[in-house]
Formats: sequence, C-alpha cells, structure tokens
Amino acid sequence: MQIAIMGAMVEEITPLLEYFNHYDTVEFAKNKYYVTSYKGLDIILAYSKIGKVNASLTAATLIERFGAQKLLFSGVAGAVNPSLKIGDLIVATKLAQHDLDITAFGHPHGYVPEGAVYVESDSHLLTLAKRVAEQKDLHVQEGIIATGDQFICDSVKKEWIGTTFNADALEMEGASVAVVCDALHVPFFILRAISDAADMDAGFSFDEFMNSSAKISANFIIAMLDEMAND
Ligand code: ADE
Repeated sequence: MQIAIMGAMVEEITPLLEYFNHYDTVEFAKNKYYVTSYKGLDIILAYSKIGKVNASLTAATLIERFGAQKLLFSGVAGAVNPSLKIGDLIVATKLAQHDLDITAFGHPHGYVPEGAVYVESDSHLLTLAKRVAEQKDLHVQEGIIATGDQFICDSVKKEWIGTTFNADALEMEGASVAVVCDALHVPFFILRAISDAADMDAGFSFDEFMNSSAKISANFIIAMLDEMAND
C-alpha cells in the first residue's frame, strides 16, 4: 500500500520527515518527493508550495508518478466556525473552491459545468480518523473546508465564505487536492489544525501558531498511520 502524505508548506511536512528520520529524496517537476516506509507501509511525502495550482500538480504527481493509493493531507487552516480555536483539529467531510466564480452565467459559486460545488472525502478514512481520535481521547471536528488562492484576513470575506459554502474552515489547497484525487479515484483525507481566525489578526496569529498547529496535525497523521499499519 503506497500512501501519500502531503502538505503545502515545508513547516507542514518537516515534523513528519523528522519523525521518519530516514528517507530518499527524488526530484521531479521543480519539487522534492521523500520516499520512506513505516511499519510496513510505503510512504511518499511532499509539500507542494502554497496554492491550488501547486497543490494540484503535487497531488497528481504523487498519484500518477509515485503510485499513491491513498492521500492524506496535513496542515493548518483559518477558522470560520467560531467554535474552532487555535490548535483545534478539523477534518473535511467535503470541500469547495470559494474563489471559483462563473456566477455571471447563472451558476452557483464554486461550480463549473461537469464539476460539482463540493467534493466529498473518503468515508473509510473519516471513520478511521474517528477511531484514532477516540483512542487518543482527542477531539477532531468534522466540517466543510473552503479553499481559494487567497490568505483570508478579513472578517467580511470570511463570513461570506462561511455563509456561501457553509464552511467551518478555510485554506489554500484542500479542494484542489480533492478534485485531483476524486478524478483519479484515490481516497483522500484533508486534516488541518487551526492557526488563525481568518480575521484582521490572521497574519500575526498565523506567524505565531503555524508551526505548533502544523505539528498537531502531523502528530494525528502519524497516529492514523499506526492504525493503518495494524489494519
Ligand atoms: N491557512 C491558514 N490560515 C489561512 C487563512 N487565514 N487564509 C487562507 N489560508 C489559510
């Protein structure tokens, strides 16, 4: 079983590389892919760089070139749902692109013909995450994640994304990874720990908490791998 673990920023993948300790590095398409194994699982890791285009390229490469059969995304997000606080974990039940807009032609936000507003996550991986959360006595909130090529630091924009997509959190890669995995029939799982509230303080909060929240997310991914290895 070849499992891909993906982040957007180096800080999101470094805790995992440090944990695995030994890995080979393969360069492809201006990016590095890290190949390792863990408890009998073949693992390929990469951070894509920020944004939907980079994330799509990396997700497609992980699947098509490196043979990933499942993809786990680990990283940080801005909270939309006020119940989500710094360091809280959220796993996407489904994802939408909040900046995809052909409403001029009568379509809803996030929709293009032959596509769908939302892409749903793999139910087996969601169930696995619930089991791991129970075992570790951790709270992992399930919710909708909205993705766009903007760092959101504006309460009005955040509220708009919240009401338009019923979103609980927002970030800059998840929905594009979801589109790629869905098209290529690869089960995916998008996990994020909250780094900020996507409001006017988001930039400061992100700088302060990005590292610690990225580690919280990475630790949960390791617990999921432990569970997968036992299955
Ligand atoms: N990732 C973490 N915080 C974010 C924010 N406020 N906007 C977009 N992506 C983010």
